[in-house]
Amino acid sequence: MNKQTILVTGATGRTGSRVLTLLRRRGLLVRAASRAGEPRFDWLDRATWDAALDGVKTVYLVPLDGELLTRPFVERAVELGVERVVLLSGRGVDVPGYSGEANIAGATHIDGESAVRDSGVAWTILRPAWFAQNFSEGVFLDAVLAGELRLPAGDGAVSFVDADDIAAVAVAALTEGGHDGRTYELSGPRALTVAQAVAEISAVTGRDIRYVPLSPEDFVAELTAGGAAAEEAADFAEAVSPIRRGMDRHVSDGVTRALGRRPRDFTDFVKASARAWHG
Ligand SMILES: NC(=O)c1ccc[n+]([C@@H]2O[C@H](COP(=O)([O-])OP(=O)(O)OC[C@H]3O[C@@H](n4cnc5c(N)ncnc54)[C@H](OP(=O)(O)O)[C@@H]3O)[C@@H](O)[C@H]2O)c1
Repeated sequence: MNKQTILVTGATGRTGSRVLTLLRRRGLLVRAASRAGEPRFDWLDRATWDAALDGVKTVYLVPLDGELLTRPFVERAVELGVERVVLLSGRGVDVPGYSGEANIAGATHIDGESAVRDSGVAWTILRPAWFAQNFSEGVFLDAVLAGELRLPAGDGAVSFVDADDIAAVAVAALTEGGHDGRTYELSGPRALTVAQAVAEISAVTGRDIRYVPLSPEDFVAELTAGGAAAEEAADFAEAVSPIRRGMDRHVSDGVTRALGRRPRDFTDFVKASARAWHG
């Protein structure tokens, strides 16, 4: 039973890599799926899907934002014998007005959630808030290292969630009973404004880091002037807009519901991640 393969998509990413590590530590048989994997898995090349799914009973599914591929992938997975899917989705999927039409991740997650619910096999859905790791290994890292994070987030706060907690919930859902048919809203234990978040990183690292609030228009103009595609810049602004509109500050109880313990606090994340901001 234990030797059935668990497929981890997004295996080189922030949650997938952690899920992989935790599963391997338990001695479970895992297959790491990404374009760098062996066999190579590419969401955009359906010819690579079957080899990734060969012999797999359980899938950790990190979708490809901007595409509606979760549904056909889950359908194929079920045809090939998959019995359980744990889907990484996003916060606000079921909240009217949370994400605008320009938000490409929103459409992916709405369709992906319904595909998983319709699949006929066991499923668990994870809806994380913004990851704390955006500051240490993600989209904010370069700006933090440069000392200035410019975002259209106003003075909105976010209950950032630690990717280690997301991975721990995913692994519980992949390997234990009691999580099927559940949707876990995942956040950290408190909300911080972006200014407070970078101040915490400054305090631990000694780096001078400031947050500069921009209007969405100025943000998009800066990104496009720096070479970003207009659509990509608009999507980024749209993804940040719930923060500015106060829709990302609530604290969710999914980590406690799934794991029976509190989520990791942002300060502890900063202390544990200090190496990311050195050098
Ligand atoms: N970041 C956040 O704060 C946040 C918050 C809530 C929800 N989410 C959701 O979490 C998901 C992951 O986002 P993330 O930004 O954190 O990314 P990530 O998981 O850190 O990285 C993306 C992963 O997908 C893989 N990938 C990319 N293109 C691929 C392709 N064509 N075929 C196969 N694999 C591919 C990448 O591997 P290779 O490049 O090696 O192929 C990588 O492992 C998204 O659906 C996002 O909406 C993110």
